[in-house]
Amino acid sequence: MTLAANTPTAPNSLPVSALDADALDRLNAILARHAGREGPLLPILHDVQAEFGLIPEAAQPIIGNALGMSPAEVYGVVSFYHDFREHPAGRHVLRLCRAEACQSMGADALAAQVQAALGLGWHQTTTDGRLTLEPVFCLGLCACGPAAQMGDRLVGRATPERVVALAGGAR
Ligand code: FES
Repeated sequence: MTLAANTPTAPNSLPVSALDADALDRLNAILARHAGREGPLLPILHDVQAEFGLIPEAAQPIIGNALGMSPAEVYGVVSFYHDFREHPAGRHVLRLCRAEACQSMGADALAAQVQAALGLGWHQTTTDGRLTLEPVFCLGLCACGPAAQMGDRLVGRATPERVVALAGGAR
């Protein structure tokens, strides 16, 4: 499987480096919805990602300007939280839990085997835009780790074989 590390491969994805007039309107509508709210940055970022599928780089200074923050401060938050994407995801997203309870049940070994089998590192997407691999920090399945999520489907006591088969079946 070939891959493109963090390149915009998903169909209908927004260009990472520029916002056109329509995208700017959509961003401004989100900012307007949160105007006057206390601690608005995280809710804004969640809404932006829901709207665009990622946090466009070009949106970050606009968000910062609206909130009286520097672009670097906004970027710091975007890059700190694993849920926020700076590049478009593939059509399917496979998440492997990296939190403590799952680590104690072999999450590291699971991740290594899944990464090797898929030929993907964290946050990487296949060149056909089919699949993105992401870490996640707790899926609420701590009692039956290691846990994984493929789309809406949660998988407890995940094995490499099961996870790779699920990923392979996603078109
Ligand atoms: S620690 Fe993995 S699901 Fe909670």
